[in-house]
Amino acid sequence: MKLLVIHGPNLDLLGHRDPAQYGSETLAALDARLVEAGQARGVEVACRQSNLEGALVEWLHEALPASHGGEGAFDAVVVNPGGYAHTSVALRDAFSVAVEAGLPVVEVHLSNVHGREDFRQRLLTGAVASGVITGMGSASYLLGIEAALRLAEHTD
Ligand code: DQA
Repeated sequence: MKLLVIHGPNLDLLGHRDPAQYGSETLAALDARLVEAGQARGVEVACRQSNLEGALVEWLHEALPASHGGEGAFDAVVVNPGGYAHTSVALRDAFSVAVEAGLPVVEVHLSNVHGREDFRQRLLTGAVASGVITGMGSASYLLGIEAALRLAEHTD
C-alpha cells in the first residue's frame, strides 16, 4: 500500500505559526512521524506540502487510478487543505473526482474548525471527502492515515 499525505498552504510554517492552534511541532518532524507510523503498518507514506492551490489539485490527479486519468501511484490520500478547505471549488472538485474514482480522500485539520470563526465552519472540500477528522492536533493525521487505509482495504 502507498499513501499520500498532502499539506496545504501555511502548513510549512508549523512549529512557528500560532502554536496555540497548531502546536509546536515542525512539519518536518510531523512528516517523519507519519512515515514511521506507515512503516509500522507496512505502508509507504509520502508527504508533500504546497502553498499553491493548483499543486494540490495536480497531486490529487496524479493519485487517481490509471483508469481515471491518473498514475495510480497511491491507494489513499490524507489532505489538510488549510484555508483552501473553506474557499476552493477547484480543490473540492478534485476531491469529488478522486472519491468517485474509488480513491479514499480523508480530510484532516489540526485545530477544531467547528469551534473557531464562522468562515471556518464551511468545509467545501470536507463535504465531498470520504470523511473529516478535525481538532485532534497531530493525531488528526495519524487517525486520518488509519481511516484512509481502512477505506482502501475495505476494512471499515
Ligand atoms: C487548518 C484549519 C484551517 O482553517 C486553517 O486555515 C489552516 C489550518 C488546521 O489544520 O487546523 O491553515 O487546516
